[in-house]
Amino acid sequence: MSKKTPITVARGDGIGPEIMDATLEILEAGGAALDIEHIEIGKTVYERGIMNGIEEKAWDSLHRTRVFLKAPITTPQGGGFKSLNVTVRKALGLFANVRPCVAYHPYVKTNFPDMDLVIIRENEEDLYAGIEHRQTQDVVQSIKLISRPGSERIVRYAFEYARANGRRKVTCMAKDNIMKMADGLFHNVFDEIGKEYPDIEQEFYIIDIGTARIAARPSAFDVIVTENLYGDIISDVAVEVTGSVGLGGSCNIGTDFGMFEAVHGSAPDIAGKGIANPSGLLLGSILMLNHIGQNPVATKIHNAWYKTIEDGIHTGDIFDPKLSTQKVGTSDFAKAVIERLGKKPEKFSPVDYGEGTGKGLILPALKTRVAEKKELVGADIFLDWQGRPEDLAEKIKAILIKGMELNTIANRGVKVWPNGQPGTFCSDHWCLRFMGQNLTPVTVLQQLANMEKAQLPFVKIENLYTFDGKKGFTVAQGE
Ligand code: NAI
Ligand code: MG
Repeated sequence: MSKKTPITVARGDGIGPEIMDATLEILEAGGAALDIEHIEIGKTVYERGIMNGIEEKAWDSLHRTRVFLKAPITTPQGGGFKSLNVTVRKALGLFANVRPCVAYHPYVKTNFPDMDLVIIRENEEDLYAGIEHRQTQDVVQSIKLISRPGSERIVRYAFEYARANGRRKVTCMAKDNIMKMADGLFHNVFDEIGKEYPDIEQEFYIIDIGTARIAARPSAFDVIVTENLYGDIISDVAVEVTGSVGLGGSCNIGTDFGMFEAVHGSAPDIAGKGIANPSGLLLGSILMLNHIGQNPVATKIHNAWYKTIEDGIHTGDIFDPKLSTQKVGTSDFAKAVIERLGKKPEKFSPVDYGEGTGKGLILPALKTRVAEKKELVGADIFLDWQGRPEDLAEKIKAILIKGMELNTIANRGVKVWPNGQPGTFCSDHWCLRFMGQNLTPVTVLQQLANMEKAQLPFVKIENLYTFDGKKGFTVAQGE
């Protein structure tokens, strides 16, 4: 392994520099062939007024190396600062967040000795697009976008990951009983793509009971694939029940880039004390070594790490007088791992990552897109108005454009006209559903113009389409 792989390293904030130094020492001693470029991110960059926490020149390094080993950073609260993590994930197209959550029984206290699961979280879509608007004085909206290619890519990644890593089952979690279209799409894609992986067991959970099961019976899961928000939540639940947040490593993978990190944050409460556990970042760096094809080094370091843990050499966060033999700080933990390089664990099963290709998972191409016939059949016109639904219906009926009919009025997704329930609270945010025959966008615009004249100000419109005759919209609750 003579050729060095260029990587970009950021030492981060809080405990970041301490755990990064420890990790890099271990990587070097383990024989990793790395050509390291350092960049600055986080607090000091934010303090210079750069709102996303990363300088322009840092991107050059990332685009050159395409491999990013990143320590945690401190995200400033409020004040219009953007999350660096979200910025980097989106800018580099890191669509998959992979988080192995493993119990280290009996050396780290956990209620679930057999737990060994991997969460694969979609990383770019969903509510994390951050598309939000205040439309009326009383109502804001946050738009959830789920795409077929986005869902397909993450679901395939999960199945390919399972195959490549000898995993037997993939569980999909979503909430398609409520979000029938967005989560329904994700679930459908899972069922569809799943057919190409008959060797892998497949199951589906509604996210709420799925989350409860992770907390109560995590050993029942193997690989879990889910949308961005659900994945964010369940990965914290899962890593917490393994025993310590200090033990989680994670990677963010795209078609051309990989970012490797610890699950935890910058832990300002223990920064500068030399007591942080470097394991999360080290385990992240082991994922990196496999990604760049230095699998034998990954095997050697991971086995040395296991040996250190089973020898009871523990940092404060996992130290337990009943289970541990020695309490160490960050740099002594690193020394202990280095001393064990070349040794294998005796109680844990040793790992073997093979030779590796450095090509990562090769995903099959996305399914060919078959064009569907899209027809305009109506429009939801949203409006800022206060009053009774019956009065609104009367006003609208008086100004209907030919070919348009007022189908329903809904308020926050609940039908309030015709035949609404008298108990439904009506905010100032109304949705008028118009349907019609042979509609064009011009018909919709004429209807809008009539409403403006009648002082019924619209705040937005959503066209209603059918695709190959199938409705591309939901009906209001109660309709
Ligand atoms: P945190 O993960 O930094 O800390 C939570 C608790 O776990 C603290 O008590 C901390 O001392 C402990 N802890 C975390 N890592 C540890 C380790 N390696 N060894 C021993 N103990 C450890 O979460 P918190 O306090 O909510 O966030 C602190 C800062 O980190 C915030 O500014 C947050 O925005 C940021 N953060 C950054 C992340 C990243 O850069 N990837 C991820 C999560 C949070
Ligand atoms: Mg999170």
